[in-house]
Amino acid sequence: MIVNTELENKGNIFPNNIVSYKKDVDTFYFTTDNDVVLAMTILRDSVIRFRYTTTGTFEKDFSYAITKHASKGYNKLEIEEEAESYKISTSKLICHIKKDNLKVYIFDAKDHKLINEDELGFHWEESYEYGGNIVKMSKTSHDGESFFGLGDKPVELNLKGKRFENWVTDSYAYGKGTDPIYKAIPFYTGLHNKKAYGIFFDNSFRSYFDFCQERRNVTSFWAQGGEMNYYFIYGPKMEDVVANYTDLTGKPQQLPPLWALGFHQCKWSYYPESKVKEITSKFRELKIPCDAIYLDIDYMDGFRCFTWDKTHFPDPKRMVKELLDDGFKTVVIIDPGIKIDKEYSVFTEALENDYFCKRADGPYMKGKVWPGECYFPDFTNKKVRDWWSDLYRELIEDIGVKGVWNDMNEPAVMEVPNKTFPDDVRHEYDGNRCSHRKAHNVYGMQMARATYQGVKKFAYPKRPFVITRAAYSGTQRYTSTWTGDNVATWEHLWIANIQAQRLAMSGFSFAGSDIGGFAEQPQGELFTRWIQLGIFHPFFRVHSSGDHGNQEPWAFDEDVTNIVRKFIELRYRLLPYLYTTFWKYVEEGIPMLKSLVIFDQEDVHTHYRSDEFIFGDHILVCPILEPNARGRRMFIPRGEWFNLWTDQLVTGGKEMWVDADIETIPIFVKAGAIIPMYPVQQYVGELDIDEVALDVYYKNGKESSTLFDDAHDGYDYTKGRYSLRTFKLTGKSNELIIQQHKEGKFDAGYQRFKVKFHGLPFTVNKIQVDNEDIALSDVKMNGDNTMVIEKSFTQIHVFGH
Ligand code: GLC
Repeated sequence: MIVNTELENKGNIFPNNIVSYKKDVDTFYFTTDNDVVLAMTILRDSVIRFRYTTTGTFEKDFSYAITKHASKGYNKLEIEEEAESYKISTSKLICHIKKDNLKVYIFDAKDHKLINEDELGFHWEESYEYGGNIVKMSKTSHDGESFFGLGDKPVELNLKGKRFENWVTDSYAYGKGTDPIYKAIPFYTGLHNKKAYGIFFDNSFRSYFDFCQERRNVTSFWAQGGEMNYYFIYGPKMEDVVANYTDLTGKPQQLPPLWALGFHQCKWSYYPESKVKEITSKFRELKIPCDAIYLDIDYMDGFRCFTWDKTHFPDPKRMVKELLDDGFKTVVIIDPGIKIDKEYSVFTEALENDYFCKRADGPYMKGKVWPGECYFPDFTNKKVRDWWSDLYRELIEDIGVKGVWNDMNEPAVMEVPNKTFPDDVRHEYDGNRCSHRKAHNVYGMQMARATYQGVKKFAYPKRPFVITRAAYSGTQRYTSTWTGDNVATWEHLWIANIQAQRLAMSGFSFAGSDIGGFAEQPQGELFTRWIQLGIFHPFFRVHSSGDHGNQEPWAFDEDVTNIVRKFIELRYRLLPYLYTTFWKYVEEGIPMLKSLVIFDQEDVHTHYRSDEFIFGDHILVCPILEPNARGRRMFIPRGEWFNLWTDQLVTGGKEMWVDADIETIPIFVKAGAIIPMYPVQQYVGELDIDEVALDVYYKNGKESSTLFDDAHDGYDYTKGRYSLRTFKLTGKSNELIIQQHKEGKFDAGYQRFKVKFHGLPFTVNKIQVDNEDIALSDVKMNGDNTMVIEKSFTQIHVFGH
């Protein structure tokens, strides 16, 4: 046995003084007397990468998180040598690197105020057991500083005072505070003195973040191996920090098909075929809109991926087509564990080609999952991913399945204490061979990537739809996600709300929870409240585990069915608004859900709010999270807001009571907003829409709204066949002007807008469209305040007194 004292270097080691520096294009190298090198790469004026080695040389640079499409380029880059430090300036940031200890201090270039400073800075401990280092960083934190992000952590939004671990873990029935769970997204945003910055620690080993828990004024992060390698992203707007992180790790590679933003119904498991049909028919009979139906593991033959149980599903192709004729897209589950079975071609092919993960000394990594003993493809090998993607040909191209659900990809292993592979399992890691310690957190991501590649290829010219449970930073490029095996409790409704917001501020907007709870059975009231929240989550799916009863909208009582229908209908009406929001996410990395702190970071009241959020740019939502509620107190952010249900105008910046019996939840629309709405459809594409509603909310002032549209599937929009309408609203005490500007070559099928005015403080006496008077008798302006107008208008001018 090795006794600690026998190790030459025990405990923390620190860089000492800088002995040289050199510049290579956009990178500065600072070398210390004890062979530490800090490589500082300027990616953008506001994005700087800090990378450290302790051996004088760097290993090959490789990351699954960073996208090759990340924006690069800066306006200014200067270095000055000062007495005690080197000073590097961009147009947004000034960094001081101390000569005697390599510590970094980062300032805002405009007002020269400190944004972030090293406390101990970079330090490390040698890892006797594995070689290399345990790499560490600590930063000084300040009173009043807040922290946000980290993916799916099921705790209060503000992370201050807490410590977290990043190690993707199958977490059946996790609870508030369980850590870690399914995702590893080592990115956080700090907010101090009204300025936000981000830190993305791109290290896939098991890592930790401590936000002033161990020491009150210190934030630290460290990992059990690899490099200290982090990106500093400056805002100062929090939304820009999130957008820049998303730019760095990738936006979704294309828009989802519009149907994927509809309602999805899932259960473990709907089978046989007659059961699936019974469910889908019931949706149509009860006129509850629904676009997707899921097949969980029981559709397979003995849980063998890429096979069908022919007793329960004798003719999948026919069934999938019949479902599609009725508007239902079929989504099937595919897990990573491949059953050990010499008669099963997926197994034998992978075996012959050496595609399965192996232990350090050579045996295959064997573990139990649903099919019993399995081997697991090494998705960190490009050849394996290519092979895996080709396996989807039959499902997608031939049978007509529209989406694939990747589960258990942490990877989950049953009946073992650590719930996953042992550390010694070997991975190819795209040419950087390593152990599971390094590959674990990216395994699920690489599986989803391979799935995406296959679904995309075989669905072409349509768009792919993929959903994954496990994820590392960057997974949002390929797939949507859900928050795993939650529970049918009120606390989990609270958690679902937090997780969807947190994922959005961690670059992963296309997310949702198992509505109603996966484990256990909700009461109708909880189910209703969960649907009322779920309609605002980009991914909107009911899912539950079969042994706890039914969870379809009609499984409770008629009142529940009616309210649930009303809310799902609202989701379908909001589709053009949601699609536009998604487009902004794909284009600019703007989070689709904005926690109040993102919406108004300057108001410190928002820093500890978790319940309320902004859906898109203009809709404020606050779920009801308790039983028997007739309303709740909530915080209305600064500005003017219209209650969606009553049109009552409220002024924000304060907490107030809002009525919301079981029929409603608090929803407000920002004054000045123009909200586009579709008519209700039972599924996307059911109706040829000839008129889109524009709900206009008066404001004394200016506000801008957008409406993005395209063919709702396919890739034509990438070649200019989209339509982007910008509406500029200007309100005065007795006038309202809406100007429309259109961009793009796409001409949507509808011809007219039905404009509805809310909250006009005057009686209308004249309307001009494109400078021509409209007869007031032609519009119902002083009745229900609506007017129908050709979609090509450039200006509507409403006069009143
Ligand atoms: C896992 C998934 C769950 C799925 C079940 C069976 O628990 O998280 O969504 O239904 O496996 O496949």
